[in-house]
Amino acid sequence: MKLKAGIIGLGVGEAHIQGYGSHPGCEVTALCDLSREKASRAAEMYPGMKITDRADEILEDPEIDVVSIASYDDCHYEQIVKAIDHGKHVFVEKPLCLHEDQAVHIRELLSEKTKLKMSSNLILRKCPRFQLLKKMITSGEMGELFYAEGDYNYGRLHKITEGWRGKLDFYSVVHGGGVHIIDLLMYLTGKRISEVMAYGNNISSRGTQFRYDDMVTCILKFEDGMTGKMSVNFGCVRPHFHGLSIYGKKETFINGDEYGLLYESSDPGIEPRKISEEYPGVHKGDLIRDFVESIVSNTKSEVSKDDVFGAMSVCFAIEEALGKAEPVRVKYI
Ligand SMILES: NC(=O)c1ccc[n+]([C@@H]2O[C@H](COP(=O)([O-])OP(=O)(O)OC[C@H]3O[C@@H](n4cnc5c(N)ncnc54)[C@H](O)[C@@H]3O)[C@@H](O)[C@H]2O)c1
Repeated sequence: MKLKAGIIGLGVGEAHIQGYGSHPGCEVTALCDLSREKASRAAEMYPGMKITDRADEILEDPEIDVVSIASYDDCHYEQIVKAIDHGKHVFVEKPLCLHEDQAVHIRELLSEKTKLKMSSNLILRKCPRFQLLKKMITSGEMGELFYAEGDYNYGRLHKITEGWRGKLDFYSVVHGGGVHIIDLLMYLTGKRISEVMAYGNNISSRGTQFRYDDMVTCILKFEDGMTGKMSVNFGCVRPHFHGLSIYGKKETFINGDEYGLLYESSDPGIEPRKISEEYPGVHKGDLIRDFVESIVSNTKSEVSKDDVFGAMSVCFAIEEALGKAEPVRVKYI
């Protein structure tokens, strides 16, 4: 029998349909969106599926085995709790939730239901260019790493000054964008971040509906002494881009729009190697096939529960550091 999947939220959630469909052991049977307009369009496009504007009709449906939660950020926590209570595997859009106590509660619930899988759409890992970089790091080609930095250059300020993000009681650009970079840095380096320090401002969105920092810069200390930096920049005037620089004792990688550069020497006369693997080169449903496989074969998914809680733990520490202007140790949930 095929696993039955339901999807809540048909923005980026629509891309999840293809993700589930790419696994032969799974089919999407239900879709939900608050918006009547989106729900009726879905009914036309996906005849035969159950279409609803009430998330509970998916979360409480005994026929559904796995739920994608792609609703607004402030709905994730409640929907995850309900999905777990009803014995469903959960693939949640980032961020997992908004507050540390919520993440601790989700962790507790999952520890009581060890068969349930949970993952989150930390999709940058699937970027072909970054996958090659991961191989170069893991093989030792780049030498011992000592510094890494990543920039989440969103380039879509209107999403917080005009859209739903700015209307929520709380929105964090760290949870909403920085989490991708934090996850990528820990995934690529294989090291956990132990301490953070952060500064932020709201110069780009001042005077709009958005009430939080739209620009956050933080310094990272990794557990082995490696250092790093992460910035999340919603106001930048440039197209969406993920800056990434990784410094090893033998090689340096620097991401660019068209290609990455790999420096194998400090000699200005020696050209860096062009890394032309696709960037970003991902479809938003690309992690889902593997997630379904992890359910079917009871294995760890590409983005495991520990990875999701790990990245969120660092984000919570960064938010705390923003309020304190002093270093904060990461408490891994
Ligand atoms: N992984 C990624 O790279 C990525 C990219 C974009 C968005 N996201 C995340 O996906 C989520 C949705 O963002 P989006 O960009 O698709 O927004 P969107 O506005 O394009 O779409 C969200 C849809 O969800 C519906 N919705 C919201 N809350 C709902 C609820 N409680 N029940 C039913 N339907 C609900 C809305 O009506 C809307 O149609 C957010 O959490 C966002 O952070 C992740």
